[in-house]
Amino acid sequence: PYRLELARSGVSDEVEAGGSLLAALRALGAKVDASCEGGICGACEIRWLEGEPVHRDLILTPERRKTHLMACVAQCASDRLVVEL
Ligand code: FES
Repeated sequence: PYRLELARSGVSDEVEAGGSLLAALRALGAKVDASCEGGICGACEIRWLEGEPVHRDLILTPERRKTHLMACVAQCASDRLVVEL
């Protein structure tokens, strides 16, 4: 599990390993668009600030992965993930 934090609203929650980041974000009240939910359309792209995302999408470039992730497929390898929401 890891702790998911929303930087703007300051709320956070535990997310189980392998759990859906998109679902966890929405449960915390974040509005995140999604369409394919398979890491290929780009609709759910969000900016991350701290932590170690495991990306698993098929569209982000290595450079963009340093600042953004696809919430529908991303996991987290650190014990904390802070996103800009
Ligand atoms: Fe399509 Fe996430 S919903 S990439």
